[in-house]
Amino acid sequence: MSDRFGRAVGAAAKRLVVACCVVGFVLGVAEAVAADEAEPSAASLMDALVDHTGARRTDADYHGKLALIYFGYTYCPDVCPTDLQAMASALDLLGDGGQAVQPLFITIDPERDTPGHLAGYVPLFHPRLVGLTGEADAIRRAARAYKVHYEKVVLPKMSDYAMDHSAFIYLVNAHGEYLGFFPPGTSPERMASIIRPHLSSLLADPP
Ligand code: NI
Repeated sequence: MSDRFGRAVGAAAKRLVVACCVVGFVLGVAEAVAADEAEPSAASLMDALVDHTGARRTDADYHGKLALIYFGYTYCPDVCPTDLQAMASALDLLGDGGQAVQPLFITIDPERDTPGHLAGYVPLFHPRLVGLTGEADAIRRAARAYKVHYEKVVLPKMSDYAMDHSAFIYLVNAHGEYLGFFPPGTSPERMASIIRPHLSSLLADPP
């Protein structure tokens, strides 16, 4: 009996997780529509950032592709690595079509995440993952455009600091327009299944 109960709870939890993901994605779209009225396009705010090779990047570099954007920091002990791993697995699940999706990792800890430091980090997750850093102000503007919250946390007895941050993966279309977000813990399969239709329409009708 406990076995049956366990299975029922497991199935209910799975349904709940799926429901949360769907709601999260839809809410993300609604919020983006509201944000567009008040703020400039999210993608245009990326043009003050520098990638992990030291090259200045503008949003134009990513037009024509879907983008998966994640804000985090390399010293993050568990959340960022887990989410970046999931993002990378989703890209692999998309097969060759995945080439039309550009994964981006924007640091919210530019003080420690220099281009050189990012260069040693992003390839650990995916060969095409681009790391972006920049002046604290530029990072703050980019984060605000995506409604990303972050703050430095200094714990007593800690010589170093941690960053508290929201952890969503944002999906942006080939024109740099925000499509929605994946909540933390979204499975690579779920991500790939949501990206696939956007990818099909992009490949059928390139911008
Ligand atoms: Ni993190």
